[in-house]
Amino acid sequence: MWPFRSQRRDVVLERMPDQRFRLFAGRQHLAAMPYPLPKDMGEINRLDFQHFLLRTGLRGNYASPVQEPADILDVGCGSGRWAMEMAAHFPNARVVGLDLVPPPDDAVTIGQGLDARPANYVFTAGNILEGLPFADQSFDFVHQRLLITAIPSDRWLAVIQELVRVTRPGGWVELAECGVPQDGGPGYTGLWQSWIDFLAKRNVDFTVGAHTGQMLISGGLANVQQRALNFPMGDWGGRIGRASATDCLAVGKALRAGVIAQNIMTSDRYDALYTRAQQEFAQRQGRGILPFYVAYGQRA
Ligand SMILES: C[S@@+](CC[C@H](N)C(=O)[O-])C[C@H]1O[C@@H](n2cnc3c(N)ncnc32)[C@H](O)[C@@H]1O
Repeated sequence: MWPFRSQRRDVVLERMPDQRFRLFAGRQHLAAMPYPLPKDMGEINRLDFQHFLLRTGLRGNYASPVQEPADILDVGCGSGRWAMEMAAHFPNARVVGLDLVPPPDDAVTIGQGLDARPANYVFTAGNILEGLPFADQSFDFVHQRLLITAIPSDRWLAVIQELVRVTRPGGWVELAECGVPQDGGPGYTGLWQSWIDFLAKRNVDFTVGAHTGQMLISGGLANVQQRALNFPMGDWGGRIGRASATDCLAVGKALRAGVIAQNIMTSDRYDALYTRAQQEFAQRQGRGILPFYVAYGQRA
């Protein structure tokens, strides 16, 4: 009996590490990808928090004039929250959430009642940088939100063309990306600039958000529209301002080790900017803004 039990324990201890991930600064990250944010339960919770914030700011989950889409795709679906809400909103649609790996809680029931996973939602693994695992013209609505840190500058056009390829004629492609801070104090803008510099070292342009509409035009889409939503950052913006600031500071914690490891600045300088940003967000007279761009276009 005993040798059998210890053998079983050895098997568990010698389990191969999951090659898709690496541990960095105490948090699980994707290995060998440009995407710099953690990929763990803490980040899934942040993405859900951010989703509720964005949905409040947008007053809904999408801007495109979609009617009754039969097939919906969300590229880089993260927690799957957006896709699951779309599945609940369009119960006759088939909704696919695609990401490099499923969220950690994908295999278990995520909740009960209102939080139960809709039966018309499915997760599929895929990498937008390597092409989508779907036939041409498979979807009526293709959505991609906040992949700005994951797509190298010279890959954006190919990514848009891939989104267009899987969209049916008459269907819509929608992108949603953040811009760069406006009217913020030196803490908030300095912190954000360190992320721009850090991502530039990975050939990622963290300032392209304002050009999403133009990118859809370059990808051959028609009837392109772009909206800018200005999220207030900090107490001056009331509850939504406090939530936006909380989200920004959580990103600041998650990117800290990467910025320092890339020698963008010292840990002391980063921590000083972080504290300064916290103070600016807490001062009601602080007037920092983060624009968020939503752009959509139609396949001819
Ligand atoms: C900032 S999160 C946004 C998640 C979700 N779109 C949202 O708005 O809540 C970016 C997501 O893109 C995924 N991602 C990064 N690179 C990717 C790639 N090459 N292909 C597919 N998904 C990718 C990450 O795993 C992560 O879940």
